Amino acid sequence: MKKYLIANWKMTMTKKAANQYFVAINKLRINNLYLGFAIPYIFLDEARKKCKWDILAQEVSAYDFGAYTGQISYQHLLDFNIYGSIVGHSELRQYTSNTDKIINLKVKKLLANQMQVVLCIGEDKDTYVKNQTISFLFKQLKTNLQGIDLKKHKKQIVIAYEPIWSIGTGKIPNNEEIYYVIKKIKEKYPFDVIYGGSVNEKNIDSLKTIKNLNGFLVGSASTNCKSFKILINKMME
Ligand code: PGA
Repeated sequence: MKKYLIANWKMTMTKKAANQYFVAINKLRINNLYLGFAIPYIFLDEARKKCKWDILAQEVSAYDFGAYTGQISYQHLLDFNIYGSIVGHSELRQYTSNTDKIINLKVKKLLANQMQVVLCIGEDKDTYVKNQTISFLFKQLKTNLQGIDLKKHKKQIVIAYEPIWSIGTGKIPNNEEIYYVIKKIKEKYPFDVIYGGSVNEKNIDSLKTIKNLNGFLVGSASTNCKSFKILINKMME
């Protein structure tokens, strides 16, 4: 089973801290683990040159070059040798015009250009409490993946299950709940599935025992190089 550990730096890090981080992380020996860093756009070029491991964008425009002030196209990413992006992170769904349909366009753009997609989905607290998580996630997946040949793009898409109520809160679903969600997704979709939401050095030992889980998308704990190195080592145990 393929294993992933993906850092999501969100809107953090200085240039100096990012450079020191990559010097430290380059010294690691990685076995049987896909290691990726989704970092702010402004560091992508330098990171791609300095980091041995994969570098991803956190977001991408749904469009080709054009009059879209402030946006970054997949064409920019390719120009800087960046071959993948997170799409549909809940913070972008919440703060920007990332509707399910726009996210679908973004996924299609990346796939059509042989790029990697980390598609984030996840329910809010209310949906979770009402026990409607699965139907909510399936609705997101249905729209986000509309018109896509799933089998053909099996290797290009990773689903990140990130309950919104778990991101940055220290609260996480129990292992059985995560197992069940992943089971349901994998019954219907041919993709690897990772988990995100408050993953840290204290809970990863337990989380990684979830049998059908392919790894983690880590926010806050990935911005501290020491902590993230611990997570990397634990993933390879
Ligand atoms: P967190 O963020 O690990 O800080 O909860 C995860 C994410 O938003 O991807």
